[in-house]
Amino acid sequence: MSTSPAAVESYWMPFTSNRDFKERPRIITGAEGHYYHTEDGRRLYDAFSGLWTCGLGHCHPRIVEAVQKQVATLDYSLGFQAGSDKAFELAERVTSIAPEGFTKLFFTNSGSESADTSLKIALGYHRARGEGHRTRLIGREKGYHGVNFGGMSVGGMTPNRKAFGASLLPCVDHLRHTWNLEHNAFSRGQPEWGAHLADDLERLAVLHDGGNIAAVIVEPVSGSSGILPPPVGYLERLREICDKYGILLIFDEVITAFGRIGEGFGAQRFGVMPDIINMAKGLTNGVIPMGAVMVRDEIYQAFMQGPKQAIELFHGYTYSGHPVAAAAGIAALDAYVEEETFAQSRALEKHFENELHSLADHPLVSDVRNFGLMGGIDLVPRPDAIGARGLEVHKKCFWDEDIVVRNGGDILQFSPFLNSRPEDITMTFEKVRKVLDSID
Ligand SMILES: Cc1ncc(COP(=O)(O)O)c(C=O)c1O
Repeated sequence: MSTSPAAVESYWMPFTSNRDFKERPRIITGAEGHYYHTEDGRRLYDAFSGLWTCGLGHCHPRIVEAVQKQVATLDYSLGFQAGSDKAFELAERVTSIAPEGFTKLFFTNSGSESADTSLKIALGYHRARGEGHRTRLIGREKGYHGVNFGGMSVGGMTPNRKAFGASLLPCVDHLRHTWNLEHNAFSRGQPEWGAHLADDLERLAVLHDGGNIAAVIVEPVSGSSGILPPPVGYLERLREICDKYGILLIFDEVITAFGRIGEGFGAQRFGVMPDIINMAKGLTNGVIPMGAVMVRDEIYQAFMQGPKQAIELFHGYTYSGHPVAAAAGIAALDAYVEEETFAQSRALEKHFENELHSLADHPLVSDVRNFGLMGGIDLVPRPDAIGARGLEVHKKCFWDEDIVVRNGGDILQFSPFLNSRPEDITMTFEKVRKVLDSID
């Protein structure tokens, strides 16, 4: 049975051109492995593995079984002053694969909540140590930390900010982004140029007095703004400046954690250790919404003061550590380990990079970037119709080529499964080329 026009009209879709969509809705009704099923009975290859979420593939049997079992055993448990066994188990499992020193995990339900939680933890940490004057937060242009007020304020994707006027957090500054066509166009992996852009943090520390800055938050590789890998030496430089001024470094690893860039965490891949790591998406393979914020031990310990009966952090969500989400997370971690997913992902990187960059010669392409299994292709925008070309590629891929390709405006984004078949990666870019050849 197809979705009724009334149903289509009732749903206000997120990050979607609703009026355009509703003229010919793209409705997905099922999934297995690397494919979606559509309402009109087709099977579509998913070249974005969900929304950077489902690296292991859809409906992974191990996760399906764990969720089914859990929902029939403990559907929900309060998480304040008592908690489900599964939440504790997952916290231990995640910290066991984390970089050294990360010992505590706080559960949220999404990447946006992880962003706001991490900023609040940073502010609370300084205050607990008697440095409550550290209130300034630093983000980066083109950064994406979700859509809640904290994440939106430190984020730097202009359309996500400007539509809401000035209703943003005060005391926020931004580093410049690292995207630069003159120096870095068509870079493969980390660009050589741009480490000096991290010195923006030093400038802000001098301007405001570094002692007033609480934290800087960056994605190790920017994802949603179009895949911007850090220039060689950039993250190292940020770490140095944070150390110099006592600023906490937050890595938003909502995309980069759990194998997307070939390691459990981007911090491990880059060998640069932040103080706080945010995650979501791959934590449960996208099966049940869940996020988390992981901190170094000393951050947690700073809160552990005052009378023992006192709540140390006045923060949390009804669904923090939800048992069904936690069960999905444990099963996802089991699969990552047993199927050696992170190594699989790493082994696919070169092939992915070569196939992605094979489109560099196309006349409609103005830049190509990649890191790990994250890839972006910039299309030349149509004059006076920004985003139209990207959306047309998405729609043609969906209707004519049976493949889901994500567009963020005129940037095509690729997030193949961590266990992709190499021939499917090749097929993806052959189909994208065919579509690009067919449009103006
Ligand atoms: C780095 C980063 N942070 C935060 C978010 C927001 O996550 P959510 O959509 O789960 O709130 C995203 C989503 O793509 C993200 O990529």
